[in-house]
Amino acid sequence: MCGIVAYIGKRQAYPIIVKGLQRLEYRGYDSAGVALLHQGQMNIYKKAGKVTDLIKFAEGKELNGNIGMGHTRWATHGEPNDRNAHPHWSESTIFSIIHNGIIENYAALKEALKSKGHTFTSDTDTEVLIHFIEDIYYAEKVSLEEAVRLALGEIVGAYAIVILSKQDPHKLIAARRASPIVVGVGTDEFFVASDASPIVEYTKNVVYLNDNEIALIDNGKLTVKTIENQVKTPYIQELELQLEAIEKGGYDHFMLKEIYEQPRSIWDSMRGRLDAKTGHLRMGGIAEFEGKFANAKRIIICACGTSWHAGLVAEYLLEDLCRIPVEVEYASEFRYRNPVLFEDDVVIAISQSGETADTLAAIELAKQKGATIFGVCNVVGASIPRATHAGAYTHAGPEIGVASTKAFTAQVAVLTLIALQIAQKKGTITETRFRTLLTELEAIPAKVEAVLKQNDAIKELAARYVDSNNALYLGRGYGFPVALEGALKLKEISYIHAEGYPAAEMKHGPIALIDDAMPVVVIATKGANFEKVVSNIQEVKARKGRIIAIVTEGDKEVRTMADHVIEIPETDDILVPLVSVIPLQLFSYHIAVMRGCNVDQPRNLAKSVTVE
Ligand code: AGP
Ligand code: GLU
Repeated sequence: MCGIVAYIGKRQAYPIIVKGLQRLEYRGYDSAGVALLHQGQMNIYKKAGKVTDLIKFAEGKELNGNIGMGHTRWATHGEPNDRNAHPHWSESTIFSIIHNGIIENYAALKEALKSKGHTFTSDTDTEVLIHFIEDIYYAEKVSLEEAVRLALGEIVGAYAIVILSKQDPHKLIAARRASPIVVGVGTDEFFVASDASPIVEYTKNVVYLNDNEIALIDNGKLTVKTIENQVKTPYIQELELQLEAIEKGGYDHFMLKEIYEQPRSIWDSMRGRLDAKTGHLRMGGIAEFEGKFANAKRIIICACGTSWHAGLVAEYLLEDLCRIPVEVEYASEFRYRNPVLFEDDVVIAISQSGETADTLAAIELAKQKGATIFGVCNVVGASIPRATHAGAYTHAGPEIGVASTKAFTAQVAVLTLIALQIAQKKGTITETRFRTLLTELEAIPAKVEAVLKQNDAIKELAARYVDSNNALYLGRGYGFPVALEGALKLKEISYIHAEGYPAAEMKHGPIALIDDAMPVVVIATKGANFEKVVSNIQEVKARKGRIIAIVTEGDKEVRTMADHVIEIPETDDILVPLVSVIPLQLFSYHIAVMRGCNVDQPRNLAKSVTVE
């Protein structure tokens, strides 16, 4: 969690840092801070709250400097107040640090440092790290970069750090383990950030640091070495990211922009991979592992949050189309459960950010046990695609709203393609059904577009339920993961308590909650479970619950029972998640806006959860 930006070059660092922090605010927004080196001084300004609070606070102060760094925090150790905001000073106030991650052995280090006379001004693990580095610096009489290297060798935990020294205004040190760091390489200038978004408008040349690597930028030269002191040649790649992709483009919120991008992003996730006319389907990423997939006795899917919901859709798809048993695991549970894994298991790890700590740890565990790991990831070059044996990118483009929308539909689209390719390889699907599904898939973007046209009606509906305290989301079959995802969207951005449930399971408990104040959103599209869902709707109606039903265009049956219906174009049952989730995203969005919530940066959340 947290966003890191740093600059060293000939320009003024502050405007670059502040703009970059605003781009990274999706990663954490508990506090923000900057450190600027100018004329032998290091000026640090930090404030609880958002980057705009920092900007107000810094106004009128000394903001000059061609080298500096900034941080937006997602607190793990210590309250989100001014004192705990980054950057943090070393004991002598010569060095300062910004940090993303957790230093797990900070308590023992802190005790040891205290006994040597160190005093601390914050409750963070981060401050301990910079004191520890300084302690080594003086004790071992080594350079700062060597002190950093020696200290990191003793650290347990995850970090992306940047360190500046008052004594050395031409030097910047960055390092990473399990939290991302990108170095932008310009002409006589360098940028360091948690992702490429603060860098893209200045240079397209970037170096992604690997785990346990330290970057030293000194007098205009970048060198990279490992914690084991091995010098590495930095691999400079060209960024594909476009600036427009990370700006709001006229929308009030990133989330709304991203919801509206879905016809395009779903298409992009499939582009070049299928052609319904010729019956061609080719997921390059699985080519080498096709046999492994086809012969797998079991597929285990590991993910968190919305990506876990996409995994649940994949369970239905893979069992349905490929006849392979599937288990969908919360990565956080899987990693600590001593799971049983075999060499012929295939593990699919799904992640938008590619940096989720629990998912990464699950991958490492499965790797140790000899399983083949396939990644489905949105962020190109992130840690998960680098940790997996093979994989497929979802190509949804940057997702900045903390609530995942277009990444989910792209994940589902890609997982559908994977299931279809394996089914074809295994011969568990007929050619006719295969061709029908390809044609249907190609039609999905237009169907999503048609749902988006109902935005005004969905907004009106949202207005009716804006004051609800609770909501229940029900679905069966392919509608069940959609119900879970709909409920997650509502709770995370509007703070209304919402539960997703398998529609039939409702009568085993949640039915007790139903009264005339309870909105019950039901996925009631035509398909295998339609009649069953209709019965569940009756059960809710009998208890006076308020039914909001997502139905197939032209539906006559549900309309007579539901309080409200939202029609979606007809599609194959197995593709319903791609279309039916759209009205639920819009519904949550409008409710959250009407309740005055910060839609793009909901409280307590962050976009990529790089701590466990
Ligand atoms: C989605 O709206 C969430 N904010 C969250 O559940 C997210 O899906 C989860 O943290 C997993 O992230 P990832 O896809 O980047 O791994
Ligand atoms: N553990 C550090 C803190 O709580 C860094 C958290 C972050 O990644 O923002 O300050």
